[in-house]
Amino acid sequence: MSRSKPDGQARGTPAGPRHVAIIMDGNGRWAERRGQPRTVGHHRGVERVRDVITIAPDLGVETLTLFAFSTENWRRPHYEVSVLMRLFKRYIIREVDELDLQDVRVRFLGESEGLPADLQRVMAQMEERTAGNRRLTVQVALNYGARREITRATQQLAAEVAAGRLDPAAIDEDVISDALDTGGIADPDLVIRTSGEQRISNFLLWQAAYAEFAFVEDCWPDFTAERFAETIASYGTRERRFGAVASQG
Ligand code: FPP
Repeated sequence: MSRSKPDGQARGTPAGPRHVAIIMDGNGRWAERRGQPRTVGHHRGVERVRDVITIAPDLGVETLTLFAFSTENWRRPHYEVSVLMRLFKRYIIREVDELDLQDVRVRFLGESEGLPADLQRVMAQMEERTAGNRRLTVQVALNYGARREITRATQQLAAEVAAGRLDPAAIDEDVISDALDTGGIADPDLVIRTSGEQRISNFLLWQAAYAEFAFVEDCWPDFTAERFAETIASYGTRERRFGAVASQG
């Protein structure tokens, strides 16, 4: 069972988010404001990815989910898409040793089969190499869209029913959670979006049902480890009720 169930979790002021999901937004604008090509912002964004992964365990975070490329991002100019694909591949090749050393497990969410073959290859190698690591789990959403994820899960469950292996009455929220790309991982406690935009943009629609949201003004290239720590600290002052009232806590 993978969900953080509202009825199975302590209500009230939390110690800190164990699973943080981040919509890393604003790379392009950060660069444009400096008169630079948008891709410069993406390169700077990689440094921030490194920073948040390094500091996350010290902040009590056990799982970090990063939205790197959405199913809608293919609509960007061809040049920008190809820079991003090369950047993801280079990041994986460069960081795999360090991430392994830091005891970080990496898994990818989304439709990897829609990505360039050479990128798919290094993604699979990284997942395999880090599979036994436990200090931090990093989920990188690459060619990911939540509606497509839910659609794929539905198709998979329907096929199980059609094959006589699954009773429709046995489909509950846990069965659906486990059929998603995030199967086996607890839901996010906190979703952060940078760059001042306040949208969910087809990210973790099912999993974020009870998450807290933090919308921060910094563009992603400015979201330092310190800003990450501050954002997490502000979560500690909120009260999560999961639909109940405070006095029931
Ligand atoms: C959002 O900025 C960012 C992206 C679409 C790409 C995210 C990629 C990185 C941060 C690079 C590193 C990632 C990994 C996992 C190595 P935007 O281009 O949407 O900015 P804008 O809203 O200003 O246009």
